[in-house]
Amino acid sequence: MTDVQKYIGDELQRFTEEICDFLRIPSVSARSDHDADTRRAAEWLQGKLRDAGFEAEVIDTPGHPVVLGEWRGAGEDAPTILVYGHYDVQPPDPLELWDSPPFEPEVREGRLYARGSADDKGQLYLHVKAAEAHLKAGHRLPVNLIILAEGEEEVGSRNLVPFVEANSDRLACDAVVISDSAMFAPGLPCLIFSLRGLAYCEIHVDGPSSDLHSGSYGGPVVNPAMALSKILASLFDDGGRIAIDGFYDDVLDWDDKTREGIRSLPFDEEEFAASVGATLAGGEKAFSVLERLWTRPSCEVNGLLSGYTGEGAKTVLPSKAMAKVSFRLVPDQDPRRVYEVLRAHVGKVAPSGVAVRVEELHCAMPWRTHLSDKLRKAATSALMNAFGAVPVLAADGGSIPIVAELERILGAPALLVGFSLPGANEHAPNEWFPQENIEKGIRALAYLYEELR
Ligand code: BES
Ligand code: MN
Ligand code: MN
Repeated sequence: MTDVQKYIGDELQRFTEEICDFLRIPSVSARSDHDADTRRAAEWLQGKLRDAGFEAEVIDTPGHPVVLGEWRGAGEDAPTILVYGHYDVQPPDPLELWDSPPFEPEVREGRLYARGSADDKGQLYLHVKAAEAHLKAGHRLPVNLIILAEGEEEVGSRNLVPFVEANSDRLACDAVVISDSAMFAPGLPCLIFSLRGLAYCEIHVDGPSSDLHSGSYGGPVVNPAMALSKILASLFDDGGRIAIDGFYDDVLDWDDKTREGIRSLPFDEEEFAASVGATLAGGEKAFSVLERLWTRPSCEVNGLLSGYTGEGAKTVLPSKAMAKVSFRLVPDQDPRRVYEVLRAHVGKVAPSGVAVRVEELHCAMPWRTHLSDKLRKAATSALMNAFGAVPVLAADGGSIPIVAELERILGAPALLVGFSLPGANEHAPNEWFPQENIEKGIRALAYLYEELR
């Protein structure tokens, strides 16, 4: 065993304790009452990067700060790798559904439970420790390494794009490596070739100037909740397709090889349905469940607000209604164009008698890549060494807004290799990370830096 791998074994206990310290800081980016905690997480990370041997800065943005760690001792001939991750987490609510408090990490049955354990603090930290192992056991890294961690991924990475644009020289690199996703299955790592994008908005319907007695006014006065329901129902058809003119114009027809690759993965649709307690009757039936999740767009109502929803009956004609609606996008859709066709559609179907407006929230470009032989071979061999299994090619239906932007601005390909598992309750109560992947993940990343040399 190399000194680096021995160091990982020797220090594993401390590494795990440090991950738990990181997870105890409630860096909830969406909530301003956690702003101080979010900054504290950034500063904590900066400290650990410095301890490992990096130069590290906490850099302010108009929102939460960026943490930038740099180690450039491998020389000009060695490649430069940029690791991206996020130290912010989703709100933990509903708290009462957690079996142990979200910011008090606890190991049960081989799982480390805490908000951020999988998404993404735990995974980001694996990189810091893999780098530390090289720097402490061998006094150097095989590659120049930049670690870029943001605190706004879960709220749309608004300030990171301008940051990357303004610092593109400093961030110049040969490849981007990201661990913010899952393995395909227990024991089966994967390399991700595509992510869906996102267009998130609110649809507001305004009616009468205040709530009205539904007996005195119902009938002639158009009900905003009914108008909104009509708009929402018009967004998709009975075949599971989105019924907005022009929406599919830029949707890529994936090649047969990719489709076959997806269909050949060991995936049991019934088991998947059972794991979520639902049938899989949504979306386009001509596509397998994984194809629908990875390669086809979707439309979701995330939340609805209108009228009286308390106990018992209240006869009321609400003055307003609002829906939070998001579209998952696929290559080569562009969220800006999706907002355009959505606005045109809503304008067409909105009943008269109410005012309707679409407000844009955050968005993300979809992403796909053709993994270069070099990256694929390096990752395959690193994952083989740590997991004893050849990674499969997979995609994911989630979004990481900065991935497509990093490739566009820096001109470097991204390698997505994650160590969480399906069903890890990301964004939900009882988020967990497989305890054994703390060790295997650090080992795999330490190998990966060598292979990328
Ligand atoms: N890490 C996830 C995205 C993800 C999940 C990628 C599973 C691959 C597999 C990320 O933190 C996330 O939650 N992204 C948001 C994006 C949004 C807030 C702009 C998402 O997908 O909803
Ligand atoms: Mn994430
Ligand atoms: Mn997330």
